Amino acid sequence: MESKKSIRRLVQERKDVLTKDERENLDNIIFDKVINSYDYKNSHTIFIFVSYNNEVDTHKIIEQALRDKKILCVPKIISKEEGMDIVQIKSFQDLKEGAYGILEPADSELKIEEKNIDLSYLPGLAFDRRGGRVGYGGGFYDRFLLKTRKNSKKIGLAYKFQVFPEVPMEEHDVFIDGIITD
Ligand SMILES: Nc1ncnc2c1ncn2[C@@H]1O[C@H](COP(=O)(O)OP(=O)(O)OP(=O)(O)O)[C@@H](O)[C@H]1O
Ligand SMILES: [Mg+2]
Repeated sequence: MESKKSIRRLVQERKDVLTKDERENLDNIIFDKVINSYDYKNSHTIFIFVSYNNEVDTHKIIEQALRDKKILCVPKIISKEEGMDIVQIKSFQDLKEGAYGILEPADSELKIEEKNIDLSYLPGLAFDRRGGRVGYGGGFYDRFLLKTRKNSKKIGLAYKFQVFPEVPMEEHDVFIDGIITD
C-alpha cells in the first residue's frame, strides 16, 4: 500500500493535468448526482466544504442548497489546535477569503452543533471503497467527524482518479459512508 504522502503527491499531479473544460464537465456530473441523491433530498441540515483551487467544485452545490432552503453549514478554520467551527451561511455572499485564501464565514455567529448535521460532504485527496479517506494532512475533518452523529451520512466528493483500491487508515482516521464521483 502506498503511504499517505505518496498518494497525496500522485493525486495532486493528476489533478494538475485536468483542463478547465474537463474539470467543468466532471463537476457538472458530480453536481447532478449530489442534487438528485436520496441523501440530499432527505436531509435538512447539510455540511459541505467550500472548494478551493482544483477541488471538486462545491460553489454550485452551495448555491443550489440555499435555493432549496437547506440549513447549510461550512467550515471556519479556528486554529490547528482548536480545529474548525461549523457555521451556517444564508447566502454565498456570507463567504469571505480567510487566512489560507479559502472562502469561509467572516465570524462564528451562526455556529451549528455538529450533532445537528444530517449529511456531510467531505473533501479529500484519495478515497477507497471501504470508506477510507486521505485529506491534506491537517486532521481537521477527522476531528470534525468524531463530533457528528453516528447515523449522519458522510459522503466524499472526488474525481474518479482519486479512488484507490485501498488507502492507508490510521487509528484517528474516520471511515466515511460513501463517495460521489464523476
Ligand atoms: N481525533 C484527533 N485528535 C487529535 N489529533 C488528531 C485527531 N485526528 C487527527 N489528528 C491529527 O491530525 C494529524 C493529521 O491527520 P491525517 O494525516 O489523517 O490528516 P487528513 O485526514 O489528511 O486531514 P483532514 O482530516 O483535515 O482531511 C494527525 O497526525 C494527528 O496529529
Ligand atoms: Mg485522516
